[in-house]
Amino acid sequence: MRTIEILEADITTLAVDAIVNAANETLLGGGGVDGAIHRAAGRDLLAACRALPEVRPGVRCPTGEARLTPGFRLPARLVIHTVGPVWRGGDAGEAELLARCYRESLQLAAKHELHSIAFPAISCGVYGYPIDAAAAIAWREVRDWPRPLPERVIFCCFGARIAAAYRALAGRGDKHS
Ligand code: APR
Repeated sequence: MRTIEILEADITTLAVDAIVNAANETLLGGGGVDGAIHRAAGRDLLAACRALPEVRPGVRCPTGEARLTPGFRLPARLVIHTVGPVWRGGDAGEAELLARCYRESLQLAAKHELHSIAFPAISCGVYGYPIDAAAAIAWREVRDWPRPLPERVIFCCFGARIAAAYRALAGRGDKHS
């Protein structure tokens, strides 16, 4: 039985196979959920990220892609780092790039046979993506994922506004068995 859960929580507290980090292309940490994950994971996470190869100067994970590291001191075993698009008004391919973040993360989860994964609302903070549009993309990509999902997929919402966006989608009878 696969479930999609909407939780209001701090993602760094979730004991799941992998939490997804809304990172930047350097993978060297930042604010928001990225900062929270690095603080909770400890310095080894930064070292593991720094050890990932640059695909071009200063870029370890291009926007829309995902990379995997251990979770170190986090209760989560692994961290999937993905980089969402900066919102630039909607005509710069942001929707497809955001969708790719979810697909690439689910691809890594499938490759590593993960049983549980938690997503923050990627790009909905510093990167300014409109919350309802971003949640709809996240929901659609999980719902339409063509391969078996992890048994538990969690949308981890930091605050009621984000949770309301996901609950509105779930409330549309758009349940996932
Ligand atoms: N647990 C769950 N969600 C969180 C947490 C947390 N501890 N902290 C923040 N969030 C939420 C935010 O409220 C927002 O809904 O994560 C969502 C994504 O916001 P950001 O963390 O700002 O990420 P994003 O908008 O993708 O911007 C990424 O911010 O921190 C930097 O290095 C990061 O440059 C990158 C940029």
